[in-house]
Amino acid sequence: MIKAFVEKGGSTDAEEWKLMRHRAQIIAEAGNILMTKSPPRGADDEAGVAKWKKHCAEYRELSKKLSKALAFKKVAKVKAALDACSAQCEACHKDHKSN
Ligand code: HEC
Repeated sequence: MIKAFVEKGGSTDAEEWKLMRHRAQIIAEAGNILMTKSPPRGADDEAGVAKWKKHCAEYRELSKKLSKALAFKKVAKVKAALDACSAQCEACHKDHKSN
């Protein structure tokens, strides 16, 4: 949804930018919630748990950056922030997703 929004070049409507920003903030909050859970793989010992928490925190911080980029209404910055978030999805899956 944020991706489609920036791919069409954003919007001239400030409310739409605000809505996208709220979405990014919800994603950041999801990072916090994820941190309280344990993944199906790769967190069986202390080091694994620490790794999991680090992935969650990184995801949260990148989502906050995304929210900031949206606040500045800069399409290029939002795209870069989104790419960083996607890379983090994959990084965490690689370590913790079951398949
Ligand atoms: C902090 C780690 C972490 C991050 C970051 C993360 N995921 Fe996941 N994701 C998981 C884990 C763990 C599972 C597997 C859950 C299970 O099997 O119970 C999963 C499962 C999924 C699934 C379920 C379908 C499947 O392929 O098994 C989707 C879809 C998904 N993630 C998308 C995303 C997207 C999109 C992002 C980034 C915007 C993201 N995830 C970021 C950890 C993460």
